[in-house]
Amino acid sequence: MNATTDGVRAEGLGVSFQGVRALDGVSLELHRGEILGLIGPNGAGKTTLVNVLSGYQPPSSGRIHVDGKDVTAWSPERRSRAGLVRTFQAVRLFGGLSVLDNIALGVLAGGGRRKAARAEAMDLLASIGLAQWAHHPAASMPYGAERRLGILRALATRPSYLLLDEPAAGLNDLETDELTEVLSRMPGDHGVGLLVIEHDMKLIMQVCHRIHVLDYGRTLSEGTPEQVRADPAVRNAYYGDAEERNHAQGN
Ligand SMILES: Nc1ncnc2c1ncn2[C@@H]1O[C@H](COP(=O)(O)OP(=O)(O)O)[C@@H](O)[C@H]1O
Ligand SMILES: [Mg+2]
Repeated sequence: MNATTDGVRAEGLGVSFQGVRALDGVSLELHRGEILGLIGPNGAGKTTLVNVLSGYQPPSSGRIHVDGKDVTAWSPERRSRAGLVRTFQAVRLFGGLSVLDNIALGVLAGGGRRKAARAEAMDLLASIGLAQWAHHPAASMPYGAERRLGILRALATRPSYLLLDEPAAGLNDLETDELTEVLSRMPGDHGVGLLVIEHDMKLIMQVCHRIHVLDYGRTLSEGTPEQVRADPAVRNAYYGDAEERNHAQGN
């Protein structure tokens, strides 16, 4: 891969909703093998940014390149085939199908061979500790396992870049720890680049190589977890709030 074109490169993205600037000149890069955290207060524009990157929301300004190709006008499906895949906040599984078949469908959707799809799906399930669920209907899984399964199905399509919007939403502490473990191994095991929107600061600080902070649709800060944590602008706009909220919840 050419080092100068490799990655998802977004430049100057803007989106307006009836005069509200949901995104205002945001630029970012996401590379294979890294985890980029996307954080910011409610309404900062995080979901809008993922919608724009994945092709569900056309930007009013800016360009998006994936591995050197300009995908700004491409459909979500075409972007998926180019290796840029996203998950949704609500898991979309086939509840009546077995856990194994849900993953095997992901393998097939990613161009995997029909004969090998089930075996590959079983390997993937084992890699996140869900092998014992293989032959159960997906709908029978506990919530935390179901969330991990949704991410695994996206991973089964062999994306180069995977965008996750609040993967820990609604998980308890144990389930969040299990998810943290799964996410942190994904870049090394699969070479994928992850963009993770998440409110759980512990998860973000543990798994991210870099963090991008949005506030009112603009980039407020970016850098390593240490740099972002130490940035006074972030403490004011976001991190301080999150700490207070965590204290209020007794975390
Ligand atoms: N479809 C939409 N129509 C109108 N306004 C929207 C729409 N989607 C998002 N917004 C507004 O854009 C801003 C950013 O929202 P969003 O991207 O959902 O923020 P976040 O995910 O960071 O909480 C908010 O002010 C929100 O109300
Ligand atoms: Mg959101």
